[in-house]
Amino acid sequence: MKIVRSVQELRDQLHGQNRIAFVPTMGNVHAAHLSLMSMARRHGDPVVASIFVNRLQFGPAEDFDRYPRTLQEDIEKLQQHNQVYVLFAPSESEMYPEPQNYRVQPPTDLGDILEGEFRPGFFVGVTTVVLKLFACVQPRVAVFGKKDYQQLMIVRNMCRQFCQPTEIIAHETVREDDGLALSSRNRFLNDTERRQAPQLYQELSEIRECILAGERNLLEVENQALRALAASGWQPDYVSVRRQVDLKTPSVEQVENGEPLVVLAAARLGSTRLIDNLEI
Ligand code: PAF
Repeated sequence: MKIVRSVQELRDQLHGQNRIAFVPTMGNVHAAHLSLMSMARRHGDPVVASIFVNRLQFGPAEDFDRYPRTLQEDIEKLQQHNQVYVLFAPSESEMYPEPQNYRVQPPTDLGDILEGEFRPGFFVGVTTVVLKLFACVQPRVAVFGKKDYQQLMIVRNMCRQFCQPTEIIAHETVREDDGLALSSRNRFLNDTERRQAPQLYQELSEIRECILAGERNLLEVENQALRALAASGWQPDYVSVRRQVDLKTPSVEQVENGEPLVVLAAARLGSTRLIDNLEI
């Protein structure tokens, strides 16, 4: 695996390649990342991964400073996994050599809801860095995890609207045996919180079961989950059933007619904010 730190080196390494499969990450590599790399390998060659903790997508009160930076361990894991040909690990000054005054602005009806409501500016930061990374890597395909469901949709729409030649491929959420979705932030959970963390997935699963069993009062099932989380010490931001196609709230008729749905949630356990979702 070649490790490159500058855009110029990256371009030199990838010169002439037209089947690049790309996996952008913020590092702290875990099994879900490795699974994204394996999927990338099935869709293209060579596989390029990036590790860059993107300050632009963190709010001033968020966890940019404490976000785990484990480059050396990450390199070892990727080398062992043996799927990545080039790892692009730029410094902040390489990605942002001057103030980033030109930014991508996702539409408010998708960018300012759910995660966007609780993390203002988050999707501007994500789409801006993804567009820059795509300009650097020029991938034919890029793999994103469904755990960040809204991010996946926004990146896909951005690529379509900006005529990007990159196809966005979705990877299923990877879970621990107890249902907890793999995330770099799980390492912040203490033992008690770790035992409690699968409750988020359990609440989503319960909502899914209720809807499949014929429940049509979505507000009631969402509120039940919010109450259950709060009663167990979580601070939930949202639990919300939406249409898969555009993340809008479905009408009762749409639910009746089998509209594909997804239930999304974000909640804080201690000082750790977790997100998860489940398609219905
Ligand atoms: O999902 C992530 O890890 C990040 O949001 C991404 C896509 C690498 C952009 O910084």
